[in-house]
Amino acid sequence: MTPLSSYAADHRRLVEAAAAAANIAEPVAFSPGGYTYYLLKAAVRGPLVPLEGVLLRDWIRNRHFNSGTKFGIRLYTASGIRFAHCTANVNGDYTDEAYDFYVVAKADYVKLFRIAVLASRSRTAGETPPVMPAAQLETLRQNTIGYLDMNNLKRIRDLGGRPKRGLLLTGPPGNGKTSACRWLLNECLRLGYEHQQVSPDAYQAARRSCNPVQAVKDLFAVNRHGIIFFDDMDIALRDRNTVRETDDQAVFLSALDGIDVNEGVVYVFTTNCPLELIDPAFKRPGRVDLVLHFEKPDAALRRALIDRWHAEIVDSIDIDTAVAETEGYSFAEVEEVKNLLILRYLDTKTWEWDWAMNQFGENRAELAKQERHVGFTPLAEPVLNGNGHH
Ligand SMILES: Nc1ncnc2c1ncn2[C@@H]1O[C@H](COP(=O)(O)OP(=O)(O)O)[C@@H](O)[C@H]1O
Ligand SMILES: [Mg+2]
Repeated sequence: MTPLSSYAADHRRLVEAAAAAANIAEPVAFSPGGYTYYLLKAAVRGPLVPLEGVLLRDWIRNRHFNSGTKFGIRLYTASGIRFAHCTANVNGDYTDEAYDFYVVAKADYVKLFRIAVLASRSRTAGETPPVMPAAQLETLRQNTIGYLDMNNLKRIRDLGGRPKRGLLLTGPPGNGKTSACRWLLNECLRLGYEHQQVSPDAYQAARRSCNPVQAVKDLFAVNRHGIIFFDDMDIALRDRNTVRETDDQAVFLSALDGIDVNEGVVYVFTTNCPLELIDPAFKRPGRVDLVLHFEKPDAALRRALIDRWHAEIVDSIDIDTAVAETEGYSFAEVEEVKNLLILRYLDTKTWEWDWAMNQFGENRAELAKQERHVGFTPLAEPVLNGNGHH
């Protein structure tokens, strides 16, 4: 038998088994790809059925990504349409769709596709990435979503590369690091990639547990290929009063190094901390492969941000003035001016740009007075006591 004929024979046999389990006539095999999440979300789960007498259950947290079996058949119905997911990854190769596919009756195929498309539409609204230079957005996309693409991962594996990637997003607060994470998380949902968010609180809790290295390691592991977000990691990694906690970073780094990945995982770390303050050990390739700076917007980017505002606002203010007067503002600050503008409009029924700018200036002066010592100031020196210790 040639590899192709045995491959084809295997696939035919699996399709038959899945169709019999789901009681489907004229089965069509398909891969829902980016619609997987929506299809499974729109469906009701039926039972698991063994395949060739084998059923291997998979404990996984999110039922919308996965059928809950590593080897076997899962039955589903969506709006009364029966379909099944067959998983028989004989080589442990999740990229091989002849061994990991869905079946539905030919008569229901188009209807099921429509159900998945509809489910995805209800979710995709408002899913725009933050404003950033086009080249930077492309780099971000390629190194996350693009990296996790099955074909890309397969190529990396074939070439013997490490299917693990670390990205560090840096820059002053309010310029889109968290927004970028939120967008990527949405992309994960849309494309059916797993995702995991590690909050500073979750990290601290893991750190305080009796086996911190293992607990931290568990926090940063995914079951399938996907993205792990560690937003504001500097807050988790350092003590409130010191800039750096080397002991903690050592635990963090060894946990990170100890995670074996075989299906592809991207780590996205963010920090407001200037790059010089980050432990060089963290920036080593294999931990962080790429650093992206989220700077304050230049005039073109401020214009791009303002262009996204509601048409009624855009038509009622002078855009050139708005762009010019917000020089040196972060994206978040420009957005705050917009919020003030809207609040004022609700009171006066007029769009008063100058009023909003003045109010913004006043609020900022007031905040500076009250909160001089609160919050994260990137260049703050650690407070030392008389003998030079913290
Ligand atoms: N690049 C951007 N494009 C559009 N809006 C932005 C951008 N950066 C920041 N904002 C606005 O400012 C808010 C705070 O930004 P955030 O992404 O949390 O900043 P960071 O995490 O870098 O401190 C966002 O919710 C969004 O309204
Ligand atoms: Mg943030």
